[in-house]
Order: sequence, then C-alpha cells, then structure tokens
Amino acid sequence: MNQPLAPRLALALAAAALLATACGKAPQVDPEKTAMAILPVGQVSIKKVKVEPGKRTGEAIVTSVCGACHGTGALNAPKTGDKAAWASRIALGFEALVNSAIHGKNQMPARGGAADLTDAEVARAVAYLANQAGANFEAPAP
Ligand code: HEC
Repeated sequence: MNQPLAPRLALALAAAALLATACGKAPQVDPEKTAMAILPVGQVSIKKVKVEPGKRTGEAIVTSVCGACHGTGALNAPKTGDKAAWASRIALGFEALVNSAIHGKNQMPARGGAADLTDAEVARAVAYLANQAGANFEAPAP
C-alpha cells in the first residue's frame, strides 16, 4: 500500500504547488492601477453632479421641489432663469433670499413645502435658482 502511495503523494504535492503558484498570481488586477483608472471618472462625476451621500445639491432640490412653482411660474413665482423677475429679488441679497425661502413669503411656502430640507440645502437651492437668473451667490458646501 505504501509503495503506490508515494508517486500519488508526489503528484498531489506537485498539483498543490502548481495551485499555490496559480493562486499567487490570481489577483491579476493591480489595485493601484485600477484605482488610478477609476479615479478620474469619479472626479468627473462628482464635479458634474456634486453628489455627496445624504446631502442634496441645489440643482437636485430645485428639480425635485422648487421647480414645481419656479419652473412654471405657478402662483406668480419668479421663474427659473427669468432675469427680469429675479433682479429685484437678487438685489435683496443672498441672506434675505435664504431667509425668505426658509420661512416662506406670501404664497411661497417655507422651504418650498419640503420640511425635511436643511437650512444649508435651502441655501444651496436658493443659490442655484438665483444664479440661473444672473446672480453669483456661493452656495454653502454640501
Ligand atoms: C408652491 C410654490 C413654490 C414652491 C414649491 C417654491 N416656491 Fe419659491 N416662491 C414662490 C412664490 C409664489 C414666490 C414669490 C413670493 C412673493 O414674493 O410674493 C417665491 C419666491 C421665492 C424666492 C424669492 C424670495 C424673496 O424674498 O423675494 C426665493 C429665493 C424662492 N422662492 C426660493 C425657493 C426655493 C429655494 C424653493 C425650493 C426649496 C422654492 N422657492 C419653492 C413659490 C414657490
């Protein structure tokens, strides 16, 4: 029994060695190279969409909330990008506009009716809205 086992053992060992070598080479994807390849893509998408987990951008908020009125001019809301409609409001200054948006003004509901928006998110939305109409407000970082 011992005699025929030796060659088999040798074979098994050789196979194991081969496997080990193969496994050693298995991660053919160089993590560093992959990271470098992915990095520029990630940076571009961050710049474009400004996605930050859990934080909504001004653009996203305007699209989903404020646009309902400001996109159409409903309730006489100053329309997005309408410079004439926004000029006198922009002249009030960023702080005043953010304050209006947070607390509401006449037909404009507080936070555009989206009570879950944070102050910073409202400010970002105001900056996005006003900047479409020629303002140069700097939105608080997400
Ligand atoms: C239900 C409709 C409605 C929605 C939704 C809405 N607005 Fe308005 N908004 C208005 C109306 C109407 C006015 C004009 C108010 C006035 O001056 O009488 C206004 C005015 C404003 C003004 C100018 C305030 C000022 O002091 O002159 C800002 C800034 C503004 N909205 C920001 C926002 C933002 C940011 C959102 C989304 C978070 C939003 N609005 C969503 C109706 C809306």
